[in-house]
Amino acid sequence: MKKESTFPLIAKTISGLEDALVLELEALGATGAMKLNRAVSFTGDTEMMYKANYACRTALRILKPLFHFEILEQKDLYEKIYEFPWEDYLDAEHSLAIDAVISYTVFTNSQFVAQKSKDAIVDRLRDKLGTRPSVDLEHPDLKVNVHLFKDACTVALDSSGQSLHRRGYRKSTGPAPINEVLAAGLIKLSGWDANTPLFDPMCGSGTLLIEAAMLAKNMPAGYFREEWGFMKWRDFDADLWEKVRADANALTTALKVKIHGSDRAERAIESARENLRFTNLYEDITLEVKSFEDSQPPFEKGFIISNPPYDERLEIEDSLAFYKMIGDTMKRKFAGYTAWMISSDLESVKFIGLRPSRRIPVFNGPLECRFLKFDLFAGRKGYQDVID
Ligand SMILES: C[S@@+](CC[C@H](N)C(=O)[O-])C[C@H]1O[C@@H](n2cnc3c(N)ncnc32)[C@H](O)[C@@H]1O
Repeated sequence: MKKESTFPLIAKTISGLEDALVLELEALGATGAMKLNRAVSFTGDTEMMYKANYACRTALRILKPLFHFEILEQKDLYEKIYEFPWEDYLDAEHSLAIDAVISYTVFTNSQFVAQKSKDAIVDRLRDKLGTRPSVDLEHPDLKVNVHLFKDACTVALDSSGQSLHRRGYRKSTGPAPINEVLAAGLIKLSGWDANTPLFDPMCGSGTLLIEAAMLAKNMPAGYFREEWGFMKWRDFDADLWEKVRADANALTTALKVKIHGSDRAERAIESARENLRFTNLYEDITLEVKSFEDSQPPFEKGFIISNPPYDERLEIEDSLAFYKMIGDTMKRKFAGYTAWMISSDLESVKFIGLRPSRRIPVFNGPLECRFLKFDLFAGRKGYQDVID
C-alpha cells in the first residue's frame, strides 16, 4: 500500500450523534469535517486515522475510501471491484470480510452485494496469485466496506475492524446494555461539564458511569481495546501507533468528579462492579443496590443521566406507572438536579409529568428514541404537571 500524506476518511456513527462526532474529530486535528447521515467525512493522515480509532468516543468505525464508481447495471459492481489491484492489499493466505450498506440502488439485498463484492476480490486474487483468500467474518485480515447510495458506489477499507463500541472493558452485561458509543454520545449531548457530580439511578452494568468517568479522566475511548483493523494492513506503522497511544494516554488524569450508580437489581450491580474492577474505576465510582423510588440523592446537586427500561428486552409491568414513579421521585427528591433520560416509549414518558426543556432525537439500535432533559427546580416553581 502506498502512503499518501493526507486522504479522505469517513467516520460512521449513530443517528443523532453526528454533530458530537464533528466536534470530536476537529478536536483531534481532523480537517474539513463535514456532517453526513450517520457519518462524518474528514481529511487526515495515517496518524489522524490512528487517533480517530483510538480516541473518538462517538465513532463506530473509521473508513478509508479506496475508489468510487457509478453503477448503471448490476454487473458493474463485480466488474469495477474486480478491476481494482487487490493484490496490493491482500495475500492469498489472508482472510477477508465484506460489509455492504445499500440504499435506493438497483440492488435490494445487501447480503447479495457483499457476496458479489467478495466474489470479485477473491476471483481477482485467484487470477493474479493463483490461490484465493478465505473469508473470516470475525477477525479478517482485511475488512472491506461497500457503500451503495443510488448509483454511487464507494469501496473503502474499514480501519477499525470490529465496531469501536466494543471498547474492551465490558466483562459482564445485563439484559439490555446500552451501546458504548451511544452512552458516550448521550453524555456529550447532555452538555455534562465533567465537574458536576453524576448519578445514574438505573445503571445496569454501568456503561454510562464508565463512559462518563473515561470522558472526565480524558482517557482514550480505545484504552482497553486490543485490536483494530489497520493493525493487519501491510502499511501498519507500529511506531506511529505506539506514539499515538502514548500521546493520548499521557493526557489522562485522575478522576476528580463524583460518579454514583444504583440499580434495583443486585445482578446488575454485580455486573457493574465487575466492569469497574476491570477498568480500575472501582475506587472512584460508588455503587448501590437500590430502587430509584427508594433512593436518596447521592449529592446535593448534580446531573442524572439514565437509560431506564423501555424496549422489548426489559419488560415493565405497567410502563405508565413506572414513568410516573420516575417523575414523582425526581420532583420529590432531586430538586436542583438536571436530569436526562433516553426512552423510545414516547407515550409513557409523558407520565413523567414534567415538561422536558430539550428533546433530542437519537436512535438506540432500531429504536427511535428521545433524549429528554428535565430541569428539576427547587420547590414546585417551574413544575407543570404535563401530559401532552
Ligand atoms: C436499560 S437497563 C440499563 C442498562 C445500562 N445502561 C447498561 O448499559 O447496562 C435498565 C435498568 O433499570 C433497572 N431498573 C428497572 N426498574 C428500576 C427501578 N425501579 N429502580 C432502579 N433500577 C431499575 C433494571 O434493573 C435495568 O438494569
